[in-house]
Amino acid sequence: MPGFIGEEFIKRTCYEYLEESDQLKGIPQPPLELQGDPSRERIYLPPPGDLNIGEIDLRRAIEGRISLRSFRDIPISLEDLSLLLWFTQGVREKYPEATLRNVPSAGARHPLETYLVINSTEGLAPGLYRFLAIEHELEILDLSSRIKNDIYIACLKQAFVRKCAVNFIWVAHIYRSAWRYDERAYRYVFLDAGHTCQNLYLASSLVGCGTCAVAAFHDQSVCDLLGIDGRSLFPVYMASVGKK
Ligand SMILES: Cc1cc2nc3c(=O)[nH]c(=O)nc-3n(C[C@H](O)[C@H](O)[C@H](O)COP(=O)(O)O)c2cc1C
Repeated sequence: MPGFIGEEFIKRTCYEYLEESDQLKGIPQPPLELQGDPSRERIYLPPPGDLNIGEIDLRRAIEGRISLRSFRDIPISLEDLSLLLWFTQGVREKYPEATLRNVPSAGARHPLETYLVINSTEGLAPGLYRFLAIEHELEILDLSSRIKNDIYIACLKQAFVRKCAVNFIWVAHIYRSAWRYDERAYRYVFLDAGHTCQNLYLASSLVGCGTCAVAAFHDQSVCDLLGIDGRSLFPVYMASVGKK
């Protein structure tokens, strides 16, 4: 397919095309997560270490994994949500230069930020939130009643997006990775998101939930909803979760 933009992307993100990275130029790295806004209200999530969860055989979890698009009309608990956030982006160790989390990330750059559209979670008003992974807290961004419908429309009116308990939206803060990897970072953020979503699939089964990955969305509509610019921060992947 000559002239296909994907071919150009693969070619121009090969090592021989990369520029000297900002890291090699000695430029200080950006913060390890997008800073929270101190004027916004925070929700303290139950610490994952304190939560009593069942056990599930790894083989059963992997072989039983499906994309679930039909959920029970009941909320998930804050404990369930806390665990799902912990398994997908939870920070196990924090160093001045990097975090180590429950998912792998190229060079431990961890460029993903997790936004949540909460439809039905005990103790949380429906609306838009952001997960502060280092603090294991949520920041409230927007509690307008339109959010639920806006994300459904942004996701090409896929019915389960409106019916689920919560939508996870993974956004790439590209410079966190590009600081080290230059343009090759645009490959890595999608790979990182794949690992993250797979953990969500597997972790959902631990808390009686199901998940469906979502990549069919209007990028600009999602950016408008989240209030991000689509360049320095852009949506990479989503997933809807609800009770089985
Ligand atoms: C990258 C990716 C994007 C996807 N996007 C959507 C989507 O937008 N809507 C949807 O209903 N399913 C989506 N899915 C789920 C797939 O349709 C599903 O994995 C596939 O049909 C196989 O079914 P299974 O997951 O139950 O094995 C996506 C899956 C992946 C891996």
